[in-house]
Amino acid sequence: MNQTAISIKRLKKSFNEKEVLKGVDFEVQRGEIFALLGSNGAGKTTVVNILSTLMKADDGEALICGIDVDRQPDGVRQSISLTGQFAALDGMLTGRENLMMIAKLRGVHNPAQVADRLLARFSLTEAANKRADQYSGGMKRRLDIAMSLIGTPEVIFLDEPTTGLDPEARIEVWNTVKELANGGTTILLTTQYLEEAEQLADRIAILHGGVIIKTGTLQELKEMFPKAIVEYVEKQPSLEDIFLNIIGKKESV
Ligand SMILES: Nc1ncnc2c1ncn2[C@@H]1O[C@H](COP(=O)(O)OP(=O)(O)OP(=O)(O)O)[C@@H](O)[C@H]1O
Ligand SMILES: [Mg+2]
Repeated sequence: MNQTAISIKRLKKSFNEKEVLKGVDFEVQRGEIFALLGSNGAGKTTVVNILSTLMKADDGEALICGIDVDRQPDGVRQSISLTGQFAALDGMLTGRENLMMIAKLRGVHNPAQVADRLLARFSLTEAANKRADQYSGGMKRRLDIAMSLIGTPEVIFLDEPTTGLDPEARIEVWNTVKELANGGTTILLTTQYLEEAEQLADRIAILHGGVIIKTGTLQELKEMFPKAIVEYVEKQPSLEDIFLNIIGKKESV
C-alpha cells in the first residue's frame, strides 16, 4: 500500500496577478499529523482549498492517497474531509440534527447511531438537543470536527482548528486531534500558533513567501537555532499557565 497520504509538488496559485503559492512542495505520510505554519495571508487556506478540491491550482501536482486532485476530484473527495477556518454548522439546528444531516448527505445507513456515537465521543451528549448557535466556541469547533468525521475519511484537513478558542477549548481540540491520529487518520492542520504545532505535529512545514522554507520535526527545527545557553532564572508562570491553574486544568504552575 502507498504510504504517502498527501504529496504536492511545485504547486502554484495566483490571484489577480499576485502569486500566492510559488511552487509549494511537501509530503505527508499516512497516520501523520502535519502542521502547515504561516502568518496571515501566507497561503495556508489556499493550499487546503486546492488539496480538498475546492479550488484549482495554476500549476504543479497534488495527490491524495495517490489520486490526482485535479484529474480525479471525485475520487479524492471520497477519502477526505475538511473542517474549514470558519465553522460550517447550521445554527438553527441542534447538534444532533447537524450530525444527522451530514450523515444522510453522505449516505451513511445508520445516521442516528452515528450521530449519537459522535456526540458521546466529543462530550456533546448533554448538549445534543440544544441549537448549535447556543454552543460555546469550543463546542461549535468540536461539533464541526465531529461532522467532518462522518464516513471515516482517511485524510482530514483542519484549517486553523483552534483560532479564537480559549486555552481550555484549545486543549480539548488538541486532544481530539491526537486521538484521531492515534486511530490512524492522516491529519493536515494549518495554524498560526507555534505552540499548537509543537503540541500536535509529527512534522512541521513553514510556508513563507509562497514557498515552504523549512520542513522537519520539532527537534529538527529546534536544531536550526544556536544551542541554548543555560541560565538560572526564576521561572515566571505564563498567563496561560495561570489561567489553566485557576480553572483547574493544570496541577501546578
Ligand atoms: N479567492 C480569492 N481571491 C483573491 N485573493 C485571494 C483569494 N483567496 C485568497 N486570496 C489571497 O491569497 C493570499 C493568501 O490567502 P490565504 O487565505 O490562503 O492565507 P492564509 O495563510 O490562510 O491566511 P490566514 O492565516 O489569514 O487564514 C491572501 O493575500 C489572500 O488575500
Ligand atoms: Mg486561512
